Parts: sequence; structure tokens; C-alpha cells
Amino acid sequence: MKRRDFLVGAGLALAAPALAIRKTAAQAAAAFPFSVASGDPTANAVVLWTRLARAVDDPTPISAQPIEVEWVVASDELLSDVVRTGIGLARPEYGHSVHVDVDGLQPDRSYFYAFRVGGEMSPVGRTRTLPAAGASHQRFRFNVVSCQHWENGYFDAYDGMADDDASFVLHLGDYIYEVGRGGVRAHETKDPLVTLEDYRRRHALYKTDAALRRAHERMPFMVTLDNHDALTEDSADDAALARRAAAYQAWYEFQPVRHAPPLQAPTMPILRGLDIGDLMRLSIPDTRQFRESESLCADGSDKKFAFGVFQKPCAAIEEPGRSMLGRAQENWLDVRLATSSARWNVMASTVMMTPFDMDHDGELYRYLQSWDGYPAARGRILDRITGSGVANPVCIAGDIHSSMVSNVMRRPGDDPKKPVMTEFVGTSISSLWPEPLAKPMHDALPDNPHVRHFDSQKRGYVRCTVTGDLWTTDLRTIDYTDRVGGKVTTDRSFVVENGQAGAKEA
Ligand SMILES: [Fe+2]
Repeated sequence: MKRRDFLVGAGLALAAPALAIRKTAAQAAAAFPFSVASGDPTANAVVLWTRLARAVDDPTPISAQPIEVEWVVASDELLSDVVRTGIGLARPEYGHSVHVDVDGLQPDRSYFYAFRVGGEMSPVGRTRTLPAAGASHQRFRFNVVSCQHWENGYFDAYDGMADDDASFVLHLGDYIYEVGRGGVRAHETKDPLVTLEDYRRRHALYKTDAALRRAHERMPFMVTLDNHDALTEDSADDAALARRAAAYQAWYEFQPVRHAPPLQAPTMPILRGLDIGDLMRLSIPDTRQFRESESLCADGSDKKFAFGVFQKPCAAIEEPGRSMLGRAQENWLDVRLATSSARWNVMASTVMMTPFDMDHDGELYRYLQSWDGYPAARGRILDRITGSGVANPVCIAGDIHSSMVSNVMRRPGDDPKKPVMTEFVGTSISSLWPEPLAKPMHDALPDNPHVRHFDSQKRGYVRCTVTGDLWTTDLRTIDYTDRVGGKVTTDRSFVVENGQAGAKEA
């Protein structure tokens, strides 16, 4: 039996006569070349996503009009036990993307869903709600990914998640790259991206990676943004702001996320906080949009090496009011930490929290785009953690295309045997961390004894399994990404015991 027949025998066909869908030529031509995705799960709701287009490489709007799209949610893969149905709107101003926020679902349940338009049915996706906030919960698993440069490699690490039975994928950004780097496959256009159409084409290309598509069909994503998704450099001239607005809009159009950016606005609401049973409070602040200038030290006295990524810190970096999250987000995080009764308190940061000192030509250098460029702001978070006795703080980060496991102390130089927080930086899905960046970090490991593990060579993802007693992080790495078919295995595992900050190799 074909999938369409499942629907004919199920809720959609029964519901259709009451829906009075207007059939147009555009509607009939509309299909689902980007398949489906789900995201931003809560205990009772999840966002279902698709995008109508003639083909993945044809971004021409399929209609000047909004198009109604039927959706169905069922408890089974055949879509026979229908739970909810409705109509979503594919609007031309958002590239005929569809974002349906389905509520009224049961906590901690798997569901299946599909869309239908003009007689065409989408693939069936699977999604999952979260355990109810505060409810007793024994075990939770999620995957963490970041940084997928199309040209650097294939995204097959996602296929390693197929048997994980994780509740969601947390994506820490660099879902697309706006710049080419050369490699095993080419971007669709010359870089850099400037217009909305440019960004749409780039997202459309990335969505054609088969392993990424399978992952989206298999489980919900929680996606945040890092610097390559939407350039957030210091420049605030009109061209930079227009470009950022285009990037945000295209990002929204291609992601299963709940909140749309205002059209043509260079800002985007992406802050999220989740409570997963009584087990875990997860805070995902936005680390890019509201940070104070990264170029404070660029007054002629600055020194840089490794493509300018590692810099010699200047006095302005230490300014006590300096913020990475901005005051409003800092307050939000402060309240979440101070009021939490969860067993594990997790912050997802695109960039690493761990202090990391590098010696270069006899002088101290740091990676100032990370929290090392915002030491006072990092100190405020760590002070809150110690001051409020926050239970089991863990930071999850990405950005450096490397695995790094660290014990974060209150201040750089403090006893690494007495950490305040444990940090797991996950490696990239495909992006490379080239030798000029990797070598100084490897060379600096003896000077950074709080870093328990560092590996810039392997690609993959992170699998976190959380119980009341134990946090387990599996570094899941893939044997190759330069062609399709790489296989994922567990490279190393680290645990954190309840009540004892710091990672131990399992
Ligand atoms: Fe990256």
C-alpha cells in the first residue's frame, strides 16, 4: 500500500470535506522536495515543518498567494491512529515554508506526522514530546551536533544516531556556512551570500544532504545559531544589517522552530529554556546577537595569529560590565539557575566556556570569541552557580570543530581538582579545524590541566545520557566524511557523578 492510501484510510481523508481547500494550479504543482522536520518540542507541543517548492534547486516562489497545507499527527507510523489534524499556511513572504505548532499532545511520547497538499503527500516524520516539567523522570538521552560545512564533508555522522533512541538533537549552530572552503563537494554559488535569495539557495542545498534529511525525519531538532549562520560581526552598517536580516529569515524558513523573525529585521528571537522532568533544566541562550564588541583589542596594540582567531588579550576584555549574553539574557539565566530544583543544570553555549591559555612567542594568547573574551560575564555565571548551590552544572558547547572535555574552575589557575562546572565541547559534523588552529591548542594542553581530553581530528556528534546518579557523554565519531557511507562508533565516554563536578573517563 502506498503512503497516500494510509491517509485516505485515515484522518486526513475523513477530515478533508470539511476543510474546503481551494485547489489552484500552484497548489497542484507544490510538492515536498525538502521532506519534513520537527522541532522545539515541549511536553505538550512540537513544531512541524515543511517547505513547498517545485524542486530543491528552484527557489522561484510557487505562488504569489498563501497555500493551505493539511497536516496530521498520529500515534503510529501508518497514520491510522490519528491524534490531531489541521491546516497550516505556507506563506509567500516566508518562501512557502510551513511551521505548525501542534499542541494538546501527551508528554514523553513519540508521534508520527505528515503533510498533504494538492493530492501530494509528504514523507512521514517521527517526533517526540518532552517529559512533563517537574515530573519524576529516570533517564533522558539527547544528541548534540554543530558545524556542518558542506564542502568539508558529508553529514553521515547523523546516521550514527539511528539506534540511539534520543529524544532530540540539539544543534549548536553553523548549520550552514556562508563562505566556501573547498573540499569534497562544492557550494551552489560563489560566496559570499548577501541576499535573501542567496541564503535560501544555500539552505536548500544543505537540506539535500541525505543523512541530514533522515535525521530530521527521525527526531525533533532544537536549533540555535552560531556565527556562520548569520554573520554577527561588529559591523552595523545598513548593508550588514540587511544581510543579517536575510540570513535570519532564510534560517527560519528552513528550520523547525517556533518563532518567526520580524520581516527584514536584523534580530531574531532564539533564546529557549526547557525543563525535562525533574532531571534536567536546559538553558539555551543566544551567544551571538547580544555580545559586546569582539574587536575591543583592535586598537593597534592587538596581536593575533592563526588567521587572527587567537589574540593577545587587552585590558578592555577584563572590563567588569562586559557581557556576552546581554543584560536581559543574563538575568534570565540567573533566575533559571537560582530557582532550579532539577538534578542537572545544563547550559548550551555555542562557544566554549573553558578558559584556555596559549603561549605564543612567549606571550599569553586566548580565543577571544569564546567566553575567554568575556571573563567577567563568565565569572558572574560561575558565581551564581556556587552562590546558589546550583546542582550539577554542565555546559555543552561547539564551535571549535573539536572534542574537548574540561573541568571549569571559578577562575583560571584555580585548582582543576575543584571544578565548579563540567564542560563537554562536541566536535563538528563535517567542518575541519585546520592545523594552524589545532597545533597551538594541542601544544597548550600541558598548560591547561583542567582540559581532560582534546581531539581536533575526528568528526561526529555527542550523545548524552542522563540519569539521577550519572551523566554519560559518549563522543561518537565517524571514520570518514570525504565520501558517503562513513560509520560512527563510540570513541570515548566520560561520566559526571551526581554531586561531583568534573569529568571522569568511563
Ligand atoms: Fe563552525
